[in-house]
Amino acid sequence: MRLDKYLSDMGAGTRSELKKEIRKSGASIDGKIIKDPGFSVDPSSHVVFRGNIIAYEDFVYYMLNKPAGVISASEDDREPTVVDLITEQKRKDLFPIGRLDRDTEGLLLITNDGTLAHRLLSPKHHIDKVYYVKVSGILTGSDIELFRDGLVLTDGLECLPADLEILSVSDDEYTSEAEITIREGKFHQVKRMFSSIGAEVIYLKRLSMGPLALDPELAPGEYRRLTADEMVSLGL
Ligand code: URA
Repeated sequence: MRLDKYLSDMGAGTRSELKKEIRKSGASIDGKIIKDPGFSVDPSSHVVFRGNIIAYEDFVYYMLNKPAGVISASEDDREPTVVDLITEQKRKDLFPIGRLDRDTEGLLLITNDGTLAHRLLSPKHHIDKVYYVKVSGILTGSDIELFRDGLVLTDGLECLPADLEILSVSDDEYTSEAEITIREGKFHQVKRMFSSIGAEVIYLKRLSMGPLALDPELAPGEYRRLTADEMVSLGL
């Protein structure tokens, strides 16, 4: 791979900026200073640029605690996106695995690995997704059964069985808190499921997706790389 592409893939800058900088200051490849941006670099080479070792990674994986108010997209002319929240030097091909609504918080994976995205999002795979939810209204045991039997939404959509665990109810506030586990990911799915039993979602946060749980140390808007154990749990 060309040196300028290698560095650009690793988030060091645009190809045109890098061409100029490489011609001027060079990069060290396996101990030799190279000033040719087209120099052919092997991904296993030892590359030092601007004093930093730049190892080539095909894929990167970030866990983000999505805050409310940002959209689940790679880029947008008008609105801040979840990829904008990755502030370190980053690859240009990042995207979120799936979508959370603008007002939903919680676990979102950001990557450039399309195969993993397909595996986690494919409707065939029925990956468990757990959400914490606060709704208007009082949830009861019969709602648990309705969710377990598979709700039919007002538009006729038949949902797969879902697990509802009621955490608390407040008669004073007329609200309930619960955790819901769903195995599909249709548009506004959780909100529509609660709406079909007459409850409105006031707050929604994704807690886990398959084997991956949101790190409680991450405040909304914060992110980190997946750990080695998390990567293994995803079969990476
Ligand atoms: N279900 C919803 O209704 N919204 C989300 O953001 C995620 C699941």
